Amino acid sequence: MPLSHHRRTFLTWEPEQAFGLWTLPISRLTGDDRKFPNAHVIGNDISPIQPNWVAPNIEFIVEDFETEWQYKQNHFDFIHGRCLAGCVADWPRFISRIFDHVKPGGYFESHESAVWAQSDDGSLKEDSALMEWQKAVNFAGEKLGRELNIYHKLKDWLIEAGFEDVRLSVYALPFSPWPRDPHLKALGKYQAMQLQPAIDSYSLRLYTQVLGWSSDVAKIHNAVVKHELRDKKLHAYVQTVAVYGRKPLHS
Ligand SMILES: C[S@@+](CC[C@H](N)C(=O)[O-])C[C@H]1O[C@@H](n2cnc3c(N)ncnc32)[C@H](O)[C@@H]1O
Repeated sequence: MPLSHHRRTFLTWEPEQAFGLWTLPISRLTGDDRKFPNAHVIGNDISPIQPNWVAPNIEFIVEDFETEWQYKQNHFDFIHGRCLAGCVADWPRFISRIFDHVKPGGYFESHESAVWAQSDDGSLKEDSALMEWQKAVNFAGEKLGRELNIYHKLKDWLIEAGFEDVRLSVYALPFSPWPRDPHLKALGKYQAMQLQPAIDSYSLRLYTQVLGWSSDVAKIHNAVVKHELRDKKLHAYVQTVAVYGRKPLHS
């Protein structure tokens, strides 16, 4: 991501979840002794989940990004969002608003994963609990007006919003350490650690409040999903994307 030294205002929806894996390192990158000493980083989330051990150049704000923004237009050098699928009702409107608030010449970057696992060897079975899980959460997201599986639309949305030089990278993210390749195996280990607990957080509210499942049925179903995820014979993965684009200098 090309960012020149004098730029300094970042907004990110990556406040603390997973221990601030994005915001805290970017604030270090931008801290006193690093590349962007004057940078000011704002981490935003609707939930008060922020840590209090933060670098002095980082500020956490609890707010709903779907309401009016307090920020000025043409203000941020860089806006970053990650894993927001299901949190946004109207993505084209959201990205268009981001465009308005990025400075001309600044960047927006988005990281999202497919909410649809696949396997190349048929080990993810049509009648598995994981398949039922992903059908149910996607159906519930649509019912709620918050589509979950949007990762493949991001590039077009950035272009439609007016970003230029839009770059897309696509990666495979295994659900457990099943791959032979050491890099993918390591990714699978991390993904297994975060995904198995996340099965409940992604789905329990959707099951019970949108689809009308009982709490017991929901929890038992998820126990079976987690059991399947621990089976190394299941060669499931998702596609995950990183997309970024630049706001034209003359806009
Ligand atoms: C799946 S988590 C991803 C968190 C973080 N970006 C990461 O990648 O680790 C989605 C986050 O979006 C937050 N969120 C959902 N709706 C939001 C909204 N309308 N405004 C601000 N944050 C929101 C949730 O509270 C949650 O922390």
